[in-house]
Amino acid sequence: MNSLTAETHEIPDHVPPELVRASRGFDDIASDWRNPFADTENVFTGDYPPIFFVPDYPIPIVGSTALGTWMITRHEDIREVYQTPAVFSSHGIAGYQHLAGEDWEMLPLSVDAPMHRHYRLPLAPSVSPKAVNAMDGLIRARANSLIDAFIDRGECEFITEFGRPYPISIFMRLMGFPVEEMYEKFLVWEKHILSGDGLTLEERGEGIKECIAWLRSFIAEREQSPRDDLTSIIVQAQIDGRPITADEKIGLVFMLFVGGLDTIVGSLSLWLPWLCAHPEYRAKLIERPELIPGAVEELLRMNPLVSSPRTVTRDIVFRGVTMKAGDVVLLLSATGNFDERKFPCPRTADFERSPNPHMTLAAGPHRCLGSHLARRELNIALETWLKRIPNFQIKEGFEVVAHAGLQAVRELRLVW
Ligand code: HEM
Repeated sequence: MNSLTAETHEIPDHVPPELVRASRGFDDIASDWRNPFADTENVFTGDYPPIFFVPDYPIPIVGSTALGTWMITRHEDIREVYQTPAVFSSHGIAGYQHLAGEDWEMLPLSVDAPMHRHYRLPLAPSVSPKAVNAMDGLIRARANSLIDAFIDRGECEFITEFGRPYPISIFMRLMGFPVEEMYEKFLVWEKHILSGDGLTLEERGEGIKECIAWLRSFIAEREQSPRDDLTSIIVQAQIDGRPITADEKIGLVFMLFVGGLDTIVGSLSLWLPWLCAHPEYRAKLIERPELIPGAVEELLRMNPLVSSPRTVTRDIVFRGVTMKAGDVVLLLSATGNFDERKFPCPRTADFERSPNPHMTLAAGPHRCLGSHLARRELNIALETWLKRIPNFQIKEGFEVVAHAGLQAVRELRLVW
């Protein structure tokens, strides 16, 4: 190890000092909710190489001893890393279950080719465009019934009254979980797993344990009497020609739970305030609802909540940068989606932008499995909201605060 430090951190020998940067100032969601990803502009205008090493940026990857993280900031480089899993592995990422002392893997996310496709294939038909079409009525009904509960009041707290309950109930129906009976519990577990806001690590671990125990008991129920739902498909799946194991079943069910919840509420929690701050864009969508699918893509692009990590599997030189096996890279969609080589005028919203190859739902073999469902949920949420509550505003005196990561805005008081 050489003696170089950025702040007080150790830097591996193979990392040249000119590629080292401190973590502040390039990736954080700024607390200014009107322009939450403004800070990432520094990567293009400031003194940053396209790939740089940040020593004080630990990423929890199971088994990793990496001393820092390589930031991959350009769209084309991000795409290439996503598409080269033999060199950039997703093994060990998203290890929430380890907080509960469990050592199975989140599937299909934590597994590379060739096994990856054996886990992805059985799930795909349940979230295909055709399957999502069949869920359209249910999703619309859910959006409308949530709005029914508060529309006459003239105000709501968007996150608890719409944003969180909306995707949870749809996800629970997809899986076959008993919605009425378990809905409140799922809301609590979601918080334990993803945000942990105000909770100790022990408390989070306890919540995750309880959630996993319930999921296992539900898996056992479906093993006894399968029905027409995704959990039943998982318990009966054949993996590479053999029956699926108990760890694989829980790994798939748990991953689906984690993948589809905060991503939707996190997105909407930024989009609604943005529409309040940009009335001209809102008016356009109300006048021309046919622009909503394009708006969903553009709002996804401009609000990338997830940046994916990968572990380097062998010593390589990538875009002129020497990386060693075991190094960790982070695919910074919060810069890739604003790369003007790919997106002209990247900081300006354009609901008719085409093509719009943003990285918010990733790319390559692990591209978001729930993307069709996510897009439909987001389209229906926008469409229904703008039709029924076109003139919403942020409540006077209420201060919107944006946070980094999935729990972007945690409280949002709206009036109309
Ligand atoms: C706005 C909503 C969503 C966003 C932004 C999002 C984002 C992502 C991203 C970035 C990945 C790739 C992670 C990586 O490669 O490291 C991913 C994978 C995944 N997502 Fe989503 N997601 C969303 C909604 C959903 C929904 C609704 C579901 C479930 C129904 C879901 C299930 C999954 C699964 C299972 C994977 C793993 C796929 C694989 O490894 O092959 N996601 N998602």
